[in-house]
Amino acid sequence: MSQHTSRPTGFDSATLTRLQADAAEIVARYPQARSALLPLLHLVQSEEGYVSPHGIEFCADLLDLTAAEVAGVVTFYTQYKRRPNGEYTVGVCTNTLCAIMGGDQIFATLKDHLGVGHDETTDDGTITLEHLECNAACDYAPVVMVNWEFFDNQTPESATALVDGLRSGDLPTPTRGASLCTFKQVSRVLAGFYDGRADEGPAAGPATLAGLEIYREQQEAEREGRHSVRKSPTTEKDGDA
Ligand code: FES
Repeated sequence: MSQHTSRPTGFDSATLTRLQADAAEIVARYPQARSALLPLLHLVQSEEGYVSPHGIEFCADLLDLTAAEVAGVVTFYTQYKRRPNGEYTVGVCTNTLCAIMGGDQIFATLKDHLGVGHDETTDDGTITLEHLECNAACDYAPVVMVNWEFFDNQTPESATALVDGLRSGDLPTPTRGASLCTFKQVSRVLAGFYDGRADEGPAAGPATLAGLEIYREQQEAEREGRHSVRKSPTTEKDGDA
């Protein structure tokens, strides 16, 4: 740990004392202090809702790094915010599968409804809207995440109701996993301070492996010299209606 941690950081003395105690606990988890940088950045983010210049200084001093080295890490990862974030990050997956299943439409609807674009925050400080890359939840496309909790199979209407609930304080329940907490609270969890909520809510269902099943059926049909008659789940649903 650096000898320079008494240098003014912009945090008041009570906050600094508390952060230093938490930081010492984090650093102690690693054989090499600098390995603690990622959770330390979540820690300072949990204090201010973003990684401020003095948050960067705090981490740099603690780990004997330069501010430029720390800033290089902060700017590499999108989970670290460089300006005050909303209480809830609403991320709309617009990667390929979610996009074609309605993710693009959901993002456009929320953008109009909230009056903010990608990585922008509503005037009331409640919501930061983001495009998200694939969350490995393609079975449930299109997916929206709030502070990294899943809301599966969304529509423009359900996503609008979701953000309205966040803004009114009537917090919606994620489809699975833990209940919602604020961006600062979830940042503290990501810093490694367990909040006891990890086992809340239902887990994801089993993998459908639908693509693999279709492929095998087609291979079998090919071997038998016939056409596979398997319909897509959507076609089956439409046909049943
Ligand atoms: S493309 Fe959205 S979760 Fe995979």
